[in-house]
Amino acid sequence: MNKKNIVLIGFMGTGKTTIGKIISEKLGCIFFDTDYEIEKRCGISINDIFTLQGEKYFRDLESEVVYEISGASQVVISCGGGVVKNDENIKNLKRNGIIICLTADAETVYRRIINQNDRPLIKGMNIDDISRLINERKKLYTVADIFIDTTNDSPLSVADKLLDIIISYE
Ligand code: S3P
Repeated sequence: MNKKNIVLIGFMGTGKTTIGKIISEKLGCIFFDTDYEIEKRCGISINDIFTLQGEKYFRDLESEVVYEISGASQVVISCGGGVVKNDENIKNLKRNGIIICLTADAETVYRRIINQNDRPLIKGMNIDDISRLINERKKLYTVADIFIDTTNDSPLSVADKLLDIIISYE
């Protein structure tokens, strides 16, 4: 495998963190999750950052974290779903990374995240709202080099697919 970072982007609930962890274990490399790094830095949850400081504050921190982590080499990086909202983030991640976008249909995303309470942007949303937000974001995710649909596959099988693709990737 080359020395590039493996960068996972995609909408909430597409499995970035779970699959990123599996891949990093299989490859024996370091795993970073941008949300986790932000929480560590602030000492409070993503929910609390949104409530107390607002989205702009979160996005600035996210860009700071992305800038720092993207300077690493041969690591796996799972990004928050909104990382694509800032072109600068993508430019930084692409410098030394293969960008993989995980996708899933709206129903699947909804089912995966409905019982979790840690995503401030989708609080109170129904499946139509989720579907609308996925569509709004769709264009932003086209910056990826590789796309993998996770709708019908287990995290392990997606991770294996992804590794197969990456191993033969230039
Ligand atoms: C967000 C996605 C979340 C988190 C924050 C905002 C988004 O990460 O960064 O709640 O704008 O899509 P996950 O995609 O890991 O849930």
